[in-house]
Amino acid sequence: MSLMARLKEETAAQHAHAESRPLEQAMVGGQVARESYVELLAQRYLIHRELEERVRGLRVAHPFIAAIVEDQLFQESNLAADLRFFGREPESCRPLPSTRRFLEDVRAAADQNPMSLLGVYYVFEGSKNGARFVAKRIAPALGVGEAGGLRYLDPHGDEQRTLWREFKARMDNAGFSPTDQDAMVSAAKMTFDAVSAIDDELHQRIAASS
Ligand code: HEM
Repeated sequence: MSLMARLKEETAAQHAHAESRPLEQAMVGGQVARESYVELLAQRYLIHRELEERVRGLRVAHPFIAAIVEDQLFQESNLAADLRFFGREPESCRPLPSTRRFLEDVRAAADQNPMSLLGVYYVFEGSKNGARFVAKRIAPALGVGEAGGLRYLDPHGDEQRTLWREFKARMDNAGFSPTDQDAMVSAAKMTFDAVSAIDDELHQRIAASS
């Protein structure tokens, strides 16, 4: 089985769980509160900022990685722009405990096998498949769209399917060892679980404070 087929199949249960979380359902139902959405962007900003810095380091140590995770897949600047659109300074974002734990787990996984970072990246880039649809649903609810606020959820526009197909081909053709592939699958599962935990923590906090 190819690496990308493995990643999809072996994380299918985690995807189903992540998709079912109340915050995701509120987004897909077009009923998410602005405060929840902005906090989700804040947590993702903190994650992408560190992840992308680490992936840049990985490209220096392993130059072939630069051709797999291209600059146009990076999201830190899209997240910063969305946050500013909502009047939130990116530098003011603070991690929830679940985000802090996830970043610690990513560091530990990358220390054991740096290729784990590609498993983490797979989850966030793959999430753009559903996020385009989610973006269309939340736009009217939040009064966002052309003016801004959706750059993270829909960074690629009509290019999304093509970019995803090309990313998958590059991953499959890179010839990663079975050990590296196992590390990526394990990191992808961990990432899905963390995304669900962060969604839940954020959703409960905002529900409790309103
Ligand atoms: C309501 C929320 C969500 C919906 C409706 C949704 C929907 C989808 C859809 C339709 C696909 C494309 C499946 C295909 O073409 O075979 C997809 C793929 C994917 N989604 Fe989601 N998704 C949601 C949430 C998430 C979340 C929260 C994450 C993680 C952050 C995520 C990560 C992924 C990944 C990694 C893929 C690529 C799977 C693969 O082909 O390897 N999704 N999603």
